[in-house]
Amino acid sequence: MSETTLFIHDLAAAVSPSGIGPLRGKSLGELEIHSPASVAISGESILAVGKPEDVMRDHPPGTDCVSVDGRGKVALPGLVDCHTHACFLGDRAPEFELRSGGASYEELHAAGGGILSTVNATREGSEEELAAVVWRHLGWMLDHGTTTAEVKSGYGLNRESEIKMLRAAKRAAEESPVDISSTFLGPHTVPPEFETAGEYVDHVIDEILPEAVRYAGAADIFVERGSFEVPEARRYLEACREHGLALRMHGDQFTERGAIPLAVELGIRSVDHLEATGEDGAKSLARSDVAAVLLPACALFLDLPLPLARLLVQEGAIVALATDFNPGSSFCESLPLVMNLACTRLGLSPAEALTACTANAAHVLGLDGKVGRLASGYQADMLLLDAPDWRYLAYHLGGDRFAARIKRGRLLSF
Ligand code: NIG
Ligand code: FE
Repeated sequence: MSETTLFIHDLAAAVSPSGIGPLRGKSLGELEIHSPASVAISGESILAVGKPEDVMRDHPPGTDCVSVDGRGKVALPGLVDCHTHACFLGDRAPEFELRSGGASYEELHAAGGGILSTVNATREGSEEELAAVVWRHLGWMLDHGTTTAEVKSGYGLNRESEIKMLRAAKRAAEESPVDISSTFLGPHTVPPEFETAGEYVDHVIDEILPEAVRYAGAADIFVERGSFEVPEARRYLEACREHGLALRMHGDQFTERGAIPLAVELGIRSVDHLEATGEDGAKSLARSDVAAVLLPACALFLDLPLPLARLLVQEGAIVALATDFNPGSSFCESLPLVMNLACTRLGLSPAEALTACTANAAHVLGLDGKVGRLASGYQADMLLLDAPDWRYLAYHLGGDRFAARIKRGRLLSF
């Protein structure tokens, strides 16, 4: 039998999404709560979560085992941020100020600012500089409880800089406790070197994608006016599927223009944003296996309408939550803040919000059965919340307090 190497005893509670795989409908809010609880870990994996006397009997701490007193604390799975643009140089503070004076995000984009200003800054830096920034951003995320994060490319928009971004993210993750999952977002917007979106997508497919697949496990595209339309998205996503990538899409952020019908037809992994999705789109997504990734910090940051989250949940969609951390539309790396917004603005319960940024977010990243739950056999990624009730994670606005973070069975701080 595996030896217990980390033993967390006498917790007030251990809380986890129940079941296996993505949760939808009523089960989205069904948690497994052990109270009181102990957790036994061996190496990088969870051995057991349960009643203190049972865990002590079946997996007693050995002589070299680290023991942690869990009294007054709550164990939760490490959070999974399934949508971030954490790899970028520069900032958009001047643009933030312009927006505070009334300029819109789309106007700034159309005038050559927005995403393209971050592209200019990111193209100028070296892979080392970029890796250092990603490493710093991963540290910010970890502070807020994120132990696994997706990181997209998409601020290079040419072969050299897109590959530089993907390599930098990989380098940063080698030095950080946070595990990353890389997504190729070559078609984020059309760079100035190209006349049309179609020509740029051809270039992406022929010249960038074959090398990007060495570093990325998924592909993404921004379907929106001023960026890419459905025919280009179809061509790109089909090419990415042939290369074996999981498929995702930024869709319905400002306008509904066919993103959901295409996503459902192709059976892609997720459509992310959905602020502009109407009832029909929400219902068709809910009937499919395409996950709905909601990004309420972005809606807050840009003052967008909110997605039909309650309808998506009621109709049985696979709902996930993420930060969308990026310099322009969501300069926010805190999933607990996103959970609070989900509860206060989207009508999700704290339990639904927790599942949406743990088990369901893990599903979006293709990590079912590996992370996102506190259960035997899962990777030992865990948070010890310094609060009497697990709901403080969403309830204490901007005040998440962790007594410890545990990554792959290693205690990071206490
Ligand atoms: O998800 N909408 C497209 N992409 C990002 C924003 C990127 C940026 O503004 O730099 C988003 O909101
Ligand atoms: Fe995004």
